[in-house]
Amino acid sequence: MRFYIIGAGAIARTHVQAIQHWSVNNNVDSSIKVADVNLAVLDSFVVGFPDVEAYSDPGAMLAEPAQPEDIVIVATPPFTHKGLALQAIAAGRNVLCEKPLAMNRTEALEMAEAAEKAGVLLGCCSMRFLGSPITKKVSELMHAGCIGDLYQVTFVQKTRRGRSGIEYQPQSRWFLDRSKAGGGTLFDWGPYDLALLYELLDWDAVEVKGAWCVSPQTEADPVTVMDVEFHVGAQLSVKARAGNPFWVQYERSSCTHGKEMQLVQLEGKKGAVTFSPYWGGNEVHLTVDVNGQPETTVYTVEEQEPNDPMHKPVIFFADAVRGQNSPALVQSEAVFVFNVLAGIYESAQSGTAVEITRSGVDIA
Ligand SMILES: NC(=O)c1ccc[n+]([C@@H]2O[C@H](COP(=O)([O-])OP(=O)(O)OC[C@H]3O[C@@H](n4cnc5c(N)ncnc54)[C@H](O)[C@@H]3O)[C@@H](O)[C@H]2O)c1
Repeated sequence: MRFYIIGAGAIARTHVQAIQHWSVNNNVDSSIKVADVNLAVLDSFVVGFPDVEAYSDPGAMLAEPAQPEDIVIVATPPFTHKGLALQAIAAGRNVLCEKPLAMNRTEALEMAEAAEKAGVLLGCCSMRFLGSPITKKVSELMHAGCIGDLYQVTFVQKTRRGRSGIEYQPQSRWFLDRSKAGGGTLFDWGPYDLALLYELLDWDAVEVKGAWCVSPQTEADPVTVMDVEFHVGAQLSVKARAGNPFWVQYERSSCTHGKEMQLVQLEGKKGAVTFSPYWGGNEVHLTVDVNGQPETTVYTVEEQEPNDPMHKPVIFFADAVRGQNSPALVQSEAVFVFNVLAGIYESAQSGTAVEITRSGVDIA
């Protein structure tokens, strides 16, 4: 298979490793080309990966005739995603775009429509934490009726200092500039959070009832542009494809003066389940009532995660392109999850509710 990576920055290196790993595991012959407008970045990339063919112009890299299984990975800052994705689609290639998919809902829809029209797949790297054994266990308990009717999900991931562009990857200051990043911690980590919830609970429509975005200050704040949020909260009312509507209380921070906190909890009328979908261990806690008292059973998920989460977008998307079963979020599903994120910003800005429906992203 032929892979074309646009952007030779931090995440592009992980994509090359993922492609190499996937190719060996699947006995597939793969070639990798990479393009970056920054020649110093490109030079250092080629030192690390001498087998990768390097280009300073993405257009020149994509000029050769396309083959149906070609994949272009857009691994640049968000303000370039739409233009580069459209360029790759126009060149007749499937596109796996880094998260966040786009800068706003209009851009995301334009990208999906172009992919649909060209008969290629568009996927988003928000799928990094999908298909994991721990989420499957939670789903199994829910479908077995262990928690009864779900009425509330609490999804809280609060870190005190983990701002991309400051504490993490300080060389990439674009993370702090809304005109380049599209948003702050919500666009950085929210794609994973919402994709996880979407996979687990099979959303059909989401109303963002209210939301807020704040930038707590520190004495290490850079003097360059810094106009994104580092702490976000939202109250979502969700209709799933099956079952009753439920609430999602969502909160994420990469900077707060409050306490660090990680809680993912699903509360139903008969029981509640808590688990850590990221790197927090392999236990699922189920609490139900026994003789009027809460009783907790701890399930240890023995099945190992088969893939490095950072490799999953390439693995899942390559499988989808080859017509194999895959948890990949592509086409309107990728746009739907993105639109919920964009809807949270819209609601925070307008102070009003914003409704996002799955049918709203059906491509004509
Ligand atoms: N760094 C991470 O850990 C990480 C993890 C997951 C996802 N991502 C996502 O990946 C994307 C890239 O992030 P990064 O951390 O690799 O950024 P980075 O700053 O390390 O690299 C971005 C690269 O894109 C290049 N570039 C910009 N415009 C270009 C264009 N028009 N054509 C070709 N190259 C261009 C830049 O020169 C730069 O080398 C972002 O959407 C980010 O959210 C990053």
